[in-house]
Amino acid sequence: MNSTFPELVWRSDMMPISKRFDDPYFSVDNGFAETNYVFLKGNGLPERFREGFSIAELGFGTGLNFLTTVFSWRERKCSGILRFTSFEAFALQPDDMIRALLPFEELQDIVDEFAPLWSDLLESGKIILPDVELTLIQGDARRQVPNWTGLADCWYLDGFSPAKNPELWGADILQSVFDHTHPKGTFATYTAAAIVRQNLRSAGFEVSRIPGFGRKRHMSHGHKGALDAK
Ligand SMILES: C[S@@+](CC[C@H](N)C(=O)[O-])C[C@H]1O[C@@H](n2cnc3c(N)ncnc32)[C@H](O)[C@@H]1O
Repeated sequence: MNSTFPELVWRSDMMPISKRFDDPYFSVDNGFAETNYVFLKGNGLPERFREGFSIAELGFGTGLNFLTTVFSWRERKCSGILRFTSFEAFALQPDDMIRALLPFEELQDIVDEFAPLWSDLLESGKIILPDVELTLIQGDARRQVPNWTGLADCWYLDGFSPAKNPELWGADILQSVFDHTHPKGTFATYTAAAIVRQNLRSAGFEVSRIPGFGRKRHMSHGHKGALDAK
């Protein structure tokens, strides 16, 4: 387990900001709605969910994206197992994860269900439930994604802002993301920074800029192969 957890600053006592990156973990407007808009809708979810669907994420953070996805998977009464793999270099301590998600009333049942499991996740890298399998791969994603043996149906690209966390948006890691995407797979991210779109295109993705969430004018999403055969 991590012995040095990242230091946070709590804005308005509820919004976690990373001291190292000087950036919030999720939208100041409404993190739950942002995740649904950017990462789920941006990847064509929940409509694309099917048994064994595989999601990969850069940046596990508070677990908000993961728990919001489980919420949606269960709301849709999907059968089989959802596979979620997240890459994280600076895992939060469980108490901070739980505190960060307190504002999201919709998620409290799921937060309560997973709260006792976070310590184990940090130790073993796995949570296995009848409907969800979560794998947390700790360490620098620039080293870990290339070594991953999996393939994702979709990616949540959720590093801190490209200006503050450029290492999660570089050409090499985004090439590795592309290489670890199913032939008909997709990605979504809240940023529409030109350098990120350029790196995603160079990697091989078809990239589109679409309206962003809340105060953000644009976000990006895209796909690897032809859209009709997803
Ligand atoms: C915006 S936060 C992610 C928020 C998260 N998806 C959530 O649901 O709360 C960005 C995350 O990327 C992680 N990160 C930054 N650089 C990294 C790196 N090189 N490798 C892996 N994770 C990294 C940070 O520690 C942080 O948890």
